[in-house]
Amino acid sequence: MRDLLMLLADGGFYSGSDLGRQLGVSRAAIWKRVQRVADEYGVTVQSVPGKGYRLSQPLQLLNKDIIQQALPSLPIFIYESIASTNDQAKQLLSSHNAPMVVLAEHQSQGRGRRGREWVSPFAQNLYLSFVWPVTEGLNQIDGLSLLVGVVVAKAIKRLSGVDAQLKWPNDVLIGGRKVAGILLELVGDPVELCHVVIGIGVNLNMVDLFNGIDQEWTSLSKEMGSVVNRELFAKTILEELACYLDKQKKYGFSSVRSEWDELHAWKGESVSLHVGNQIVIGRVVGIADKGEICLLVDGEERKYLGGELSLRLHNDSRN
Ligand code: BTN
Repeated sequence: MRDLLMLLADGGFYSGSDLGRQLGVSRAAIWKRVQRVADEYGVTVQSVPGKGYRLSQPLQLLNKDIIQQALPSLPIFIYESIASTNDQAKQLLSSHNAPMVVLAEHQSQGRGRRGREWVSPFAQNLYLSFVWPVTEGLNQIDGLSLLVGVVVAKAIKRLSGVDAQLKWPNDVLIGGRKVAGILLELVGDPVELCHVVIGIGVNLNMVDLFNGIDQEWTSLSKEMGSVVNRELFAKTILEELACYLDKQKKYGFSSVRSEWDELHAWKGESVSLHVGNQIVIGRVVGIADKGEICLLVDGEERKYLGGELSLRLHNDSRN
């Protein structure tokens, strides 16, 4: 399947017989392979009578040398197609030292929070995992997922000039639509050495509609009206990440709290918060020093913290 994808990579038209000749199969077989390429890699292949097949967008593959400029001394692994960069990062930990970075052009089982799928079409978006050693005790990761939201919003602003907002705890939105998600996973024994795998997915050049996304989404290219340079984005996000992780380690999340607050999408909104089986209705006041959300509930300010919490706008089914 990869051979066919690479033949189509430049976004030009290729006839079925041309492709068949190059791959040594019949025209009919090409039609089937095109369907499989689309399914396996999440790309859109257009079929135009009289012209042939073409990708809806040319492929731009990640260049390691450019990305490495952000962190010259760190190991960076780039894969063409893997299940999930977070899973791959965990596996690499058995043979490599952290910190390290894992990137992929395509994830066949990209994972989101709360067991959701993260749609990861080939060479269109950013799928990145950063493995960070937890050397200062678990306080080191208080508020970390919120801090990473600030990192993503800053990288978006730096590269495109577009303003992103943050929805607690760590969804990144543009104009109310989700553009990026963050999935943190702790690996190892918290009493001994453990690591946190910081998984970041940013919709960069995805423009087609996918049935797999059950919430309103956007991509940076949709917002900008032009194609995003993915390796430059990867480089920018790694530069920001290195700078903010340093702050987190030295001063904790409280040093970034006000920056998060400035980007807060739902401040002052009436919301419902799902905590386990309970639903709390309140008004968003802000966030606290460990990344908790502060809600005004029945006239009383309460703080909520936890990975499995979800926040929804009252009377709104968006996530
Ligand atoms: C969310 O549900 O908002 C979190 C999405 C996180 C997606 C990223 S993509 C890179 C890394 N690998 C995964 O499988 N998931 C994260």
